[in-house]
Amino acid sequence: MSNAHTLIIVGASGHALNVHFLAERLDVPIKGFLDDNPETWGNEILGSVVLGSIDSWIEHSECQFIVAVGSPRVRRRIVEQMERLGSPNYATLIDPAAVASGRKVTIGAGSVICAGAMLTTQISLGKHGVINRNATVGHDAQMGDYVTIAPLAAVSGHVTLADLVEVGTGACIRQGVTMAPGSMLGMGGVLTQNTDDNAVMVGNPARLLRHLPSI
Ligand SMILES: CC(C)(COP(=O)(O)OP(=O)(O)OC[C@H]1O[C@@H](n2cnc3c(N)ncnc32)[C@H](O)[C@@H]1OP(=O)(O)O)[C@@H](O)C(=O)NCCC(=O)NCCS
Repeated sequence: MSNAHTLIIVGASGHALNVHFLAERLDVPIKGFLDDNPETWGNEILGSVVLGSIDSWIEHSECQFIVAVGSPRVRRRIVEQMERLGSPNYATLIDPAAVASGRKVTIGAGSVICAGAMLTTQISLGKHGVINRNATVGHDAQMGDYVTIAPLAAVSGHVTLADLVEVGTGACIRQGVTMAPGSMLGMGGVLTQNTDDNAVMVGNPARLLRHLPSI
């Protein structure tokens, strides 16, 4: 049997389970998971096996891959690790119960759009993005690479989310606001102003909690 469109999920916890759920909903054949924790190797998760280390992707290079880790920074590290060995073919998964195919919506390779997500129009999402369940993204929003938007977040029109931005569960972003590279909005936060690079913002209105390490 050809493995041409068989999926391998990189990561074996948390978000990887969501991606497994989504792949099953799309009837995408799943070959298994890859994870760097040797204790997981050979384990069966949701009926799929942890095949081995992340670097072993090269033995399955005919497959497609999703790097299924919620943290933008960890996701980028894993992508860079994989690409030191070659050029993986990344899948892009859009749940059938998401609306993400409007006019001028572009979604980068390796991205995942979960059930109930709604992206309206003139929106771009870079590579390896995650728009989680029931999140909404308004018109003219521009999102870079490795962006994660958690469930129920509301990203208004003309918002810009730079590379490696994370938006927590149920957070809201005022129209036109820019989140700088590596910045984060905590769960439930209400962001009314632009952020600094790597800033962690929390509360309503969101205020600076601390800075993450520079990206
Ligand atoms: C913002 C966040 C990253 C902070 O984590 P942290 O750096 O470990 O911070 P702590 O938990 O040590 O909390 C530090 C302080 O910030 C407060 N705080 C933490 N998260 C907060 C939030 N989302 N909103 C308001 N205040 C928050 C804490 O109450 C604490 O206040 P105190 O010092 O007065 O006691 C984290 O709480 C968060 O919201 N993560 C996003 C979770 C999420 O959406 N996951 C998606 C899963 S799909």
